[in-house]
Amino acid sequence: TAPAAVIVAIDGPSGTGKSSTSKAVAAKLGLSYLDTGAQYRAITWWMLNNGVDVNDPSAVATAAAKPVIVSGTDPLAPAITVDAVDVSGPIRTQEVTSAVSAVSAVPEVRTLITDLQRVIATSAGNGIVVEGRDIGTTVLPDADIKIFLTASPEARAARRSGELRGKVPVDVAATREALVKRDAADAGRKTSPLAKADDAVEVDTTDLTLDQVIECVVTLIEGAIARA
Ligand code: DC
Repeated sequence: TAPAAVIVAIDGPSGTGKSSTSKAVAAKLGLSYLDTGAQYRAITWWMLNNGVDVNDPSAVATAAAKPVIVSGTDPLAPAITVDAVDVSGPIRTQEVTSAVSAVSAVPEVRTLITDLQRVIATSAGNGIVVEGRDIGTTVLPDADIKIFLTASPEARAARRSGELRGKVPVDVAATREALVKRDAADAGRKTSPLAKADDAVEVDTTDLTLDQVIECVVTLIEGAIARA
C-alpha cells in the first residue's frame, strides 16, 4: 500500500478510461481522488444557469469567482457541489459538455480552479490521484508519478457512447465528432492545454480492458512508491 501523501497525476483526452481508472486505482491504494474535469463542468453549469454567455471570455472571466465549488475526494462517492447544490448529475448533460471547452479555456477560470486543485492535492494526507488534462504539466508538476492515457478516436467514441447509452439517445459517429472537436479545443487552447508532460508514462489503452489498464497503472504507482 501507499505511504503518506503520494501524488499521482493522470491526464489524457476523454474516452481513454481516465475516470474509471483513476477512481478504481485510488480506491485500491487507499488514496483520495480528484476529478478536475468535474470542476470545469461545475463552473460551466453555473455560467449556463446564471445567464452568462459562455462564448464571451470577458463575461466568463468576470463571473468566474462567483460560484463556490466544493469537490469531494472519496473515490467511491465523488460528489461535487456548486453553492452547496449537488451538481454531480447536471454537469454530465450534453449542454454542459458542449460548453465546457470554451469556459475552461478562459485564463481567469483556470487560475481559480488550479489554485483550488493545489489546495486539495496538498491537503490530502493519505495521498491523491488527480485526473485531468494539465495536471502533470501545470497543476502538479512535482507529482510523484505522471501517467498519460491515450486511445484511438474509434475506441474513445465507442466507450463514450457506451457510457451515454441509457441516459441520452446515442449516435456513435456524432459522439466521435464531438469528442475529436473537444480534444482539439482542449489541446489547442493557449493556457495550459491538454498535453503529455515530458516525464509522464504514456499508456495506450486502445486494446486493453479496463481491468488491464487499472493493473498497469497500479503497477506504475507502486514502482514510483518503491523508488521514493
Ligand atoms: O474530463 P472531462 O471530460 O469531464 O473534462 C471536461 C472538460 O474540462 C474538458 O473538455 C476540458 C476541461 N478540463 C481542463 O481544461 N483541464 C482539466 N485539468 C480537466 C478538464
